[in-house]
Amino acid sequence: MSSISAKNWVSPVGETPFSKKGKPTILMCPPTYFTVAYAINPWMEEASPCNEELAKRQWENLYKAITEQAGADVELLEPVDGLPDLVFTANAAFVHNNNAVIAHYKHPERRPEEPVCAQWFEKQGFNVVRMPDHIFFEGAGDALTWQDRVFAGYKTRTDIASHSLLTAATDLPVLSMELINPRYYHIDVCLCPLADGHLIYSPDAFDEYGRAVVEANVPADKLIPVTPEEAARFACNAVNINDTVIFNQGSSQLAADLKARGFKVVQVDLSEFLKAGGSSKCLTLRIG
Ligand code: ARG
Repeated sequence: MSSISAKNWVSPVGETPFSKKGKPTILMCPPTYFTVAYAINPWMEEASPCNEELAKRQWENLYKAITEQAGADVELLEPVDGLPDLVFTANAAFVHNNNAVIAHYKHPERRPEEPVCAQWFEKQGFNVVRMPDHIFFEGAGDALTWQDRVFAGYKTRTDIASHSLLTAATDLPVLSMELINPRYYHIDVCLCPLADGHLIYSPDAFDEYGRAVVEANVPADKLIPVTPEEAARFACNAVNINDTVIFNQGSSQLAADLKARGFKVVQVDLSEFLKAGGSSKCLTLRIG
């Protein structure tokens, strides 16, 4: 078994107000008001009733995996009554160095989250960047840093016009990938950059052009495709902290592929969040 070299545990967010602590820092939001209250993606349309008490226990298990098993710090965003999707902090913003590019949601149901997140980032000392009103952008749900560039999804939620604004705000080049499958409506449910240049992805979520972009950028020996069955269990929606990768249970093939490359794998049951169309990565945002 090979192992992931510590020198390759590069922070995907650069130098932020939290990176000085020397420990990876993740933003989460307790699921106090989480439920499936409306349907803005196919998972929500098909969802059986959400068990909110079970969701709280599942979120606690994810919190423990992140803090105790992966050794990261967690900052908490205060939950807001009436904003059930605020738990999905991945969408709050795209963070790079001091910049937090705040989400501007396509669906009106999520727009009241925008000022809540903008205020939080401002208070922490980030340079807060807002999208113009006519350009939708759903934060790190649709923009993922891999090495020195960003894989960014567009069409279902995020507008492609946001990508050049992301470059203007962060100086990072953006690789624009069309999301062609309504079930994989954010890029973070079908693609996941990992330490040491690895990348998990679901080929079926992209068209031929998108797959060609992935293959042209990521060396073949670093590319980890997942099966359609495991992608549907949100295998690509993984949280990578140093050499630990955390994701929903039920993806044994991905677990084996990652272990063979030297990663430590932690699987946490997140069934109640899948009903809202999210899993481990959606419930987190790397901020340092
Ligand atoms: N119900 C939320 C939505 O449809 C889920 C968001 C999941 N977040 C993510 N980063 N993929 O917007």
